[in-house]
Amino acid sequence: MAIPATDLDIPNLTWLDDPSVGFEERRDATEAAASESWIARNLFGFSILHYDDVVAILRDKRWHSASGKILEMSGIDDPEWLSRRRTSILSTEGDEHTRLRRVAGPAFSPRHADALRPYMRDVVNDLIDPFADRGTADIAVEFCEPYPIPIICELFGAPKEDLQLFSDWATDIFRIFNGNLHDDMPAIIAAQDELDAYVGDLIEARRSTPADDLISAMIAAESDGDRLSHTELVMMCEAVLMAGTDTTRNQLGCSISLFAHHPEQWKLLAERPELAPRAVEETMRFMGAVRGTGRFASDDIEYRGVWFPKGTFISPSLAQANRDASVFDDPGQFDITREPSNRPQLTFGSGIHYCLGAALARAEQQEALTIMAQRLPDLALAGDIVWKPATVGIFGPERLPVTFTAT
Ligand code: HEM
Repeated sequence: MAIPATDLDIPNLTWLDDPSVGFEERRDATEAAASESWIARNLFGFSILHYDDVVAILRDKRWHSASGKILEMSGIDDPEWLSRRRTSILSTEGDEHTRLRRVAGPAFSPRHADALRPYMRDVVNDLIDPFADRGTADIAVEFCEPYPIPIICELFGAPKEDLQLFSDWATDIFRIFNGNLHDDMPAIIAAQDELDAYVGDLIEARRSTPADDLISAMIAAESDGDRLSHTELVMMCEAVLMAGTDTTRNQLGCSISLFAHHPEQWKLLAERPELAPRAVEETMRFMGAVRGTGRFASDDIEYRGVWFPKGTFISPSLAQANRDASVFDDPGQFDITREPSNRPQLTFGSGIHYCLGAALARAEQQEALTIMAQRLPDLALAGDIVWKPATVGIFGPERLPVTFTAT
């Protein structure tokens, strides 16, 4: 007989949802809970703490993505706002989701991502040039924040003069995660409308004159005679802007701050750039910017002798799973020479919603970290890192002051 989840005698992590709890306290408390149990209580439901359970649950199609529930969970009940809720690939399930992945997936292949590497290298160098002769920089503000935007623009085939528009839309649409939806909703809606109109025009232009970009690839994408509709193309572009900017910039911020604490590993990367792919996996394992994700039970679910009634919310902890000692030897050790394994780090997720942009994100980070390690080999912290609140969905440094030898 399964035990109802609410009756479990398990660690209580509800207090972690207080924004005043710092990153390290949060990480240590989660680790302590994981040493006791695979599951803990949190403010909205339950946290899943062990690697095998996180993977099993993310691959179990009865658990649906909670990304479409952010408005309700934030207490937004205005019918007009609720009616504007978009269908997104992240919140789509079942056959509809399978179809989107099947048709759009090839446009996100490693081959397409690799084609952008020369452009990525130019962006990295152009961002480093203005501060290279200064010997100091705020890497979060001057490098990580702007880095993904020109790459997304290039991916879309949008002209460079529209960079600022994309940057502003991304900032406004991301307000959805700031926990202040009542005040932010008008700006979010305005940005969504402007982005939709812009992308709609871009799609029409590419229909008549295809180019070598993601939009043209998605327009041309076909599987068994099936193609994406105009609305689906617009949705996919918004998903890419949403899912591909803040993640990348925060992951880079986390990774560079980690290297700043491990100068010998930074030196090693500068000397052996072929380690870049492993360095990216290890930084994402050791300090992932996406700490966890959300799922809810689409039906009554029994798992490991526990009964989760329909609607139960759970948060698979990607960050804690990445430190599971039964999967990673000496998980508290940061080592960019760690052997690749068939049980990968989980910061890109797992199962049907596994990051569609993983190949692009890997290429972006490999290029950025390698060039930066070579151009700023003695990078060192020049003050305290200011972190975003540890409760935000995508975590990273707000300020990352560093020094290095000016060139
Ligand atoms: C380091 C950077 C990135 C990280 C850590 C990351 C992480 C993730 C994670 C954890 C998920 C799954 C969420 C869940 O299961 O609830 C996801 C999904 C997704 N990501 Fe990424 N991502 C990154 C970069 C990107 C980029 C650059 C793009 C686009 C070019 C992208 C596009 C997407 C899309 C479209 C989905 C939804 C896939 C689906 O629902 O089928 N991501 N990402």
